[in-house]
This record gives sequence, C-alpha cells and structure tokens, in this order.
Amino acid sequence: MRVLVTGGRSGYLGRHVVAAAEPHDVIALGSAEADIRDRRAVRDAVARHAPDAIIHTAYVQSDWEVTAAGAANVALAAAALGSRLVLVSSDVVFSGKDGRYDESAPPDPITPYGAAKAAAETAALAVCDDVVVARTSLILGDGASQHERLVHALVGGGDGGLFADERRCPVHVGDLAAALVELATTAHRGILHCAGADAMSRYELGRAIAHRDGLDPDVLRPSTRAELAVPGPIDVRLDSALAGRLLTTRLRGAREFLAR
Ligand SMILES: NC(=O)c1ccc[n+]([C@@H]2O[C@H](COP(=O)([O-])OP(=O)(O)OC[C@H]3O[C@@H](n4cnc5c(N)ncnc54)[C@H](OP(=O)(O)O)[C@@H]3O)[C@@H](O)[C@H]2O)c1
Repeated sequence: MRVLVTGGRSGYLGRHVVAAAEPHDVIALGSAEADIRDRRAVRDAVARHAPDAIIHTAYVQSDWEVTAAGAANVALAAAALGSRLVLVSSDVVFSGKDGRYDESAPPDPITPYGAAKAAAETAALAVCDDVVVARTSLILGDGASQHERLVHALVGGGDGGLFADERRCPVHVGDLAAALVELATTAHRGILHCAGADAMSRYELGRAIAHRDGLDPDVLRPSTRAELAVPGPIDVRLDSALAGRLLTTRLRGAREFLAR
C-alpha cells in the first residue's frame, strides 16, 4: 500500500505518521514539493505518486488559505485519483458550549482556526467518497511537542500561566499516528473522534508533564481562558468511544501516558 502524508517532512504529527506507516510505501510531502494552496501543484503531486491513501496533516493555524482551501485542494486531488483520504481535524470545530461531543454533534466553531477546520471537513466530506475525518485534541507525548516545550519554558522562568478552566482530551502523538495509519488501511468512512481517554485542563496537563520530566510542578501558575478573554473553546471533551470500538490502536489518556 502506498500512503502519502502531507506535512510529513517537517510537521510534528506528520513525521510521526511517516514513521508509523512503515513498512508501507510512504511518501512524505512538504510544501517545497507541493504548496497545498496551489490546486494544480497538489493535483500533479498526488497524480505523480498515485497513493492508495492520503493522510492530510498539513495546516497553518492562522492561515485560512492553507488550513481550509489547502485541505479542499487535497480532497479534490484525492477524489480525482480515487485515493482514500484521512483528514486530520480538531476539537476546535466545537464551541465548548456542550462540553462533551460525539460524532453526531454539528460543528459550531468560535475561532477563525475552528472555522477553517470545519470548512476543511465540509469540503473533504463533500468531494471524496472514501474519506474519514479524524478529529483530535492536544497532541503530545514524545517530549518534543509545543505543549511539552511550553511547560519546560515556564518552569525555566518563562512568563505566563496555563489555563486551569479549559478541558480537552490530550492524545499521545504515537497513538494518534498509529490510529491514522490504521484508518488509512481500513474501511470506516465519515467522522471519527480520535482523542485521548482523559479530560484535563492545560494546567493539570502541565503539572503532569513537569512531574514526568522531574521538574517542580508547583512552579507552574494557573490562569483562566475566561479571565484573559482569549477566544477559544473552554470545555471540549471529544467522546472517542466509537474509535475505541473500531480501532485496534488504543488512544491512551494523558494520565496514563504521562505517568512516570
Ligand atoms: N498540535 C496539536 O496539538 C493539534 C491539536 C489538534 C489538531 N491538530 C491538527 O493536527 C495537524 C498537524 O498538526 P502539527 O502540530 O503536527 O502541525 P505542524 O507541526 O505545524 O506541521 C504543519 C505542517 O504543515 C505543512 N504546511 C504548512 N503550510 C503548507 C503549505 N502551504 N503547503 C503544504 N504544506 C504546508 C508544513 O510543512 P512544510 O514545513 O513543508 O511547509 C508542516 O509540516 C493539523 O491538521 C492540526 O489542525 C493539532
């Protein structure tokens, strides 16, 4: 099986997906080979490599053209070739108003990033017959994620706090990468929530990271998203029970994978 991974050259998740996809024939695609904002470049790159499946991880959080239009271009290229598409999406498609979300919940984004991911999902589901939208949450676990690096910077004297009022379901990058590869090779279609089993605040998560890494968790300061008026969902717990039944890959909770 040939699998093409967008963001597979330099992306945090993408590089883990490339590693998890071995021993399949894996092609890591970076923006230097094909800028996903360029519909023709994406179509040509996909046609050249002729993958059986595409795992789409590439995005830029602050850039609609990459995150929304780029995903639509990838979906068009997958549909033209008849490749299966696994689109990585995010819990930010939800406002947090309802707290817990399963796959039947309609997106109600409250940030430009959330709106771009919801638009990407809609485009992929509209143009591809063989597509799965894998929504996930904070990705970490190997020590190199932005979330783990932030905790180290804060413990080292960096300025800022970690939201104690925001609840998400963090996932281990290795578990998620394995789940995405499994989804590329199986038949499930539609939306699937692929987050970790434990709901935690960023402050709780930071303390668990510090504890795992032998740092003093008490140096970390709690803050609240509500008090800072930083836009973003406060309580988004993805219900990943369906993934638990469909996948052989287990998506561990952060309390489990961060335990020393
Ligand atoms: N990180 C998290 O906690 C988190 C949480 C929920 C969901 N997600 C989702 O997970 C996915 C991966 O996130 P990540 O943290 O691994 O991202 P990342 O490390 O920032 O990687 C993003 C990748 O996108 C590629 N890219 C950017 N602009 C491009 C363009 N114009 N054309 C082609 N490729 C382009 C970059 O490749 P080049 O260097 O080659 O340009 C880069 O490898 C995203 O879809 C994101 O929405 C992430």
